[in-house]
Amino acid sequence: MTTYITTPIYYVNAMPHIGHAYTTIIADTYARFRRLCGDEVRFQTGTDEHGEKIAQAAEKEGVEPREYVDRISALFRQTWPGLDIAQDHFIRTTDADHIKLVQEILQKVYDNGDIYFSEYSGHYCKGCERFLTEKELVDGKCPDHLTVPEEISEQNYFFRMSKYQEWLIDHIKNNPEYITPERYRNEVLSFLSEPLEDLCISRPCSRLTWGIPLPFDEKFVTYVWFDALINYLTGINYPDGPDFEKYWSEAEHVIAKDILKPHAIYWPTMLQSMGVAPYKRLHVHGYWNVDETKMSKSLGNVIRPGELVEKYGVDTVRYFLLREMSFGRDSSFSTEALEARRNSDLANDVGNLFSRALTMLAKYADSTVPEIDKATVTEEDRVLVDALEKMVADYSTAMNNFEFHKALQSIWEVIGMLNRFIVTNAPWELAKEEERAGRLNTVLYFLADSLRLLALVLRPVMPSAAEKMAAALGMEKKLAKASLKEEDCWGEMEAGTVLHPGESLFPRLAKKKKQQAQGKNQGKKQGKGQGKKVKKKEAEPEIDMKGLITFEQFGDVELRVAEIVTAEKIKKANKLLKLTVKAPEERTLVAGIAKHYSPEDLIGKKVIIVANLKPAKLMGITSQGMVLAAKETDADGNERLVLSTVAEEIAPGSRVA
Ligand code: MSP
Repeated sequence: MTTYITTPIYYVNAMPHIGHAYTTIIADTYARFRRLCGDEVRFQTGTDEHGEKIAQAAEKEGVEPREYVDRISALFRQTWPGLDIAQDHFIRTTDADHIKLVQEILQKVYDNGDIYFSEYSGHYCKGCERFLTEKELVDGKCPDHLTVPEEISEQNYFFRMSKYQEWLIDHIKNNPEYITPERYRNEVLSFLSEPLEDLCISRPCSRLTWGIPLPFDEKFVTYVWFDALINYLTGINYPDGPDFEKYWSEAEHVIAKDILKPHAIYWPTMLQSMGVAPYKRLHVHGYWNVDETKMSKSLGNVIRPGELVEKYGVDTVRYFLLREMSFGRDSSFSTEALEARRNSDLANDVGNLFSRALTMLAKYADSTVPEIDKATVTEEDRVLVDALEKMVADYSTAMNNFEFHKALQSIWEVIGMLNRFIVTNAPWELAKEEERAGRLNTVLYFLADSLRLLALVLRPVMPSAAEKMAAALGMEKKLAKASLKEEDCWGEMEAGTVLHPGESLFPRLAKKKKQQAQGKNQGKKQGKGQGKKVKKKEAEPEIDMKGLITFEQFGDVELRVAEIVTAEKIKKANKLLKLTVKAPEERTLVAGIAKHYSPEDLIGKKVIIVANLKPAKLMGITSQGMVLAAKETDADGNERLVLSTVAEEIAPGSRVA
């Protein structure tokens, strides 16, 4: 099988931001996933370098278009490796082979009678670089650029797009997967329910010279979209190259909703006119906004992927973008949401699982994967294997459907299950009894093999982290070649494999001293500033912020469910009890509850503890946390303490959030 996956080629009048990064990460993840499935994959991205917008941007900088496009195109190309994006081909519309192909195709379409010369007058939007129809205008303005279009009357060449309208409607209706998610397919069909106009595909040189000259009339250059869409064919050497044969029938394009029309209408009709089969699938995603507002240079809220990578690391950025957005819908970017996912999904869930499992393998098996002891395999183990196999199946379906958030959800369900598996099997207990060594080995094997599978399915999403996981599991080489075929699913971890537990995969982000820092800054600014921003800040705090904490501050407190295993009085301390709890690992706590609870009533209770308190010595005993309790004081000043517990059965160690 083969896969050909493409991103839009980005205009070089803007620097790469997280919108561009998201689309390109999606394509890269899909490319890596299809490779994991055993496909030969070709992944292409690049830059769109002709047209008015680019010519104007160059002029604004006072440089020749060629110099300008070289610079910005290089910026895009240099951005991708930092995001672990590894395209097979980076195409530029100023490449000589592309220019040649565009001209050959124009000539072919012209020769077959699908291009004609005509006069046109209409509303031309410079931002869109096209004529807008009367219907598209909102209050006489372009709805995307909020500008009044220019009234232009000129002679131009037109592509007979209308001729292919019925064919296109049939094709979309007969191929439900052609455009997904469904809402975009419906949008296109709805647009096609009205008569389709022909497409103006030239610009007179009197108005624009930065474009590909029409081969049959040198007084015109090619309209930027007719030029750009053809990149998808240039990159695989249409018509004669072997890659065209190999890949075209499997072509899948990823775009955002802004460029649906050119991809869903212009492009298939162009292909039909030149006698090339339609691409296989078009995947359309929504827009990233920032804190609920549109990202824009003028608002100064453009998020640069490089800055995020520098601060959070490439894996966190890739994971966040893929997990946070439901493919097809808009999403709002915020560093708070990113940091929350980093700390909960990555540091707490997967990071902890790896470090706990590897620590136990080191402690109880000398960092060497033990043999399974078949006689000790339990029903719970079988349930785990079923869950792992279901995860691989659900993950694969979701990845193939471009539902990346769902693919990740299915992985995280299993991560949760594995964290519980550790708790219920308590290897630290098994290790205490020699006759249970067989079961200990089985549990450790199950953990090691599950980590191997996780490293495999996470590879397309977080290639760097997955490589570290593979290295820790002592199977870098094996995992690099592994595929998701049935036989690679369960039990592939070889007993005797030597593990190399390394540093933590996702250290928790350090607490930010944000409020304090802000407070200091504000003070400084207020002292000096007369500007608008400062005024706004002065007027803002009508709410009394005293005593309120931020989400981040709360997120720094790690609350967990803990099961009380032992409880005893402490000599000479009539208020204190010494508790041993499972949370999920065993720890000792000293709690001031002796007047309210007798030790025997506490055994088996599941309470809530603060799990990340610095250890403190009380009556010579080191307390590793704090038990939470509610305090009631009656009119006479008598105190009553009631321990906080959980309403239903839940595994010790579960996070309370
Ligand atoms: N040059 C054309 C595409 C030609 S493809 C034959 C173009 N370029 S663009 O630079 O404007 O890129 C648009 C694409 O960038 C979107 O379709 C999407 O892939 C990505 N995004 C740009 N801003 C985005 C967001 N705010 N959110 C998500 N994706 C965004 O159009």
